[in-house]
Amino acid sequence: MSEKIKSDQVKKKFKLKEGQQVKNDGIVSNEVEVLAGVDLSIVKGEFLTIVGPSGCGKSVFLDIIGGLTNATSGTIYLDGKPIDKPTLKTGYVFQQYALFPWRNALSNIEFGLEMQHVPREERTKVAKKLLSTFGLSDFWDRFPYQLSGGMQQRVAIARALATNPDVLLMDEPFAALDAQTREILQNELLRIWEGTGTTVIFVTHSIDEAIFLADRVAVFTARPGIVKTMIDIDLPRPRDGNIRSTNEFANNRHKVWDALKGEVLKAQKDWELASVYAK
Ligand SMILES: Nc1ncnc2c1ncn2[C@@H]1O[C@H](COP(=O)(O)OP(=O)(O)OP(=O)(O)O)[C@@H](O)[C@H]1O
Ligand SMILES: [Mg+2]
Repeated sequence: MSEKIKSDQVKKKFKLKEGQQVKNDGIVSNEVEVLAGVDLSIVKGEFLTIVGPSGCGKSVFLDIIGGLTNATSGTIYLDGKPIDKPTLKTGYVFQQYALFPWRNALSNIEFGLEMQHVPREERTKVAKKLLSTFGLSDFWDRFPYQLSGGMQQRVAIARALATNPDVLLMDEPFAALDAQTREILQNELLRIWEGTGTTVIFVTHSIDEAIFLADRVAVFTARPGIVKTMIDIDLPRPRDGNIRSTNEFANNRHKVWDALKGEVLKAQKDWELASVYAK
C-alpha cells in the first residue's frame, strides 16, 4: 500500500506575547515548545486515531497536516509533496463547531463543492444525500444557531465529506455529544468510510472511541508531543458496538491506557507545578 501522509521530524514552537511565560521542562521561557519531532507514516485508506494528554499538540499537528499553520521545522508530505497550504483534497472537522453562521445546513454542506465550481444542481444533490445520511433531511434550511450541538456537528462532518476528500482530519468531533449520539455517529462514520479509500486522522480523548474506529492508535507524549507508541488494532471489520465487550477489545484498551497513563500524569504534574509557580 502506498504512503499517503508522512510526518518527518515535525517540530512546532509558538512565540508568546510580551510578558507571557511557559515552562518547558521546568525552564521558564517565552516560547511554547508544542511538538518535538513527530514521525509517522499513514497509508492510503488507513484510519489512524491519536490520543494524548490535553495540550500535547494534537490540534496543532492536525493544523499542520491541514496546511493551516507551518511546522517550525520538519515536513509533512501528502502524496509525496510537502504540505504548505490548505488543499481541497483534505477535509477538516474542527474541535469547535466551525459552521458558517450565515449559511443554512444545506448551504454549509455545499461550501466545498462551490469552491470546486461544481454546478448548483449537482452540489444540492450531494448535500441532500448527506443530510439524509445524517438524519437531517428535515433541517436542511436551518441556520447553525437553530440546530443542537449534535446536529451542528453532523452538518460539519457532512460538509467535510461532501467533496469526497482523500484525507479527512477530525479533531474530537464527537466530544460534545451525548453517549448514545456519539455511538451512532461512530457507526455512521465507519459505514461511510469503509470502501471509500479515504485516509482518516481522528483525534479523541476516549480510548474506547480510539480503538473502536482505528486501524492504528498513535499515543502522543505530554507536551512537547511526539509519537510515544503506535498500537495496531487488529479487530475485524466491519465493526459494531458488540465488539466493545470482547476480550480482544479489552486487551487493546489495556495497551493504550498503559502507554497513555504516564503521559497524562506527567501533564498533570506540569499543571500542578504551574499553579505552585503562579502563587
Ligand atoms: N497560537 C498559539 N500560540 C501560542 N500557543 C499555542 C497556540 N496554539 C496552541 N498553543 C499551545 O500549544 C499547545 C498545544 O495545543 P493544542 O491545541 O494542539 O493541544 P491539544 O493536544 O489539541 O489539546 P486538547 O486535547 O486540550 O484539545 C498548548 O500548550 C497551547 O497552549
Ligand atoms: Mg485539541
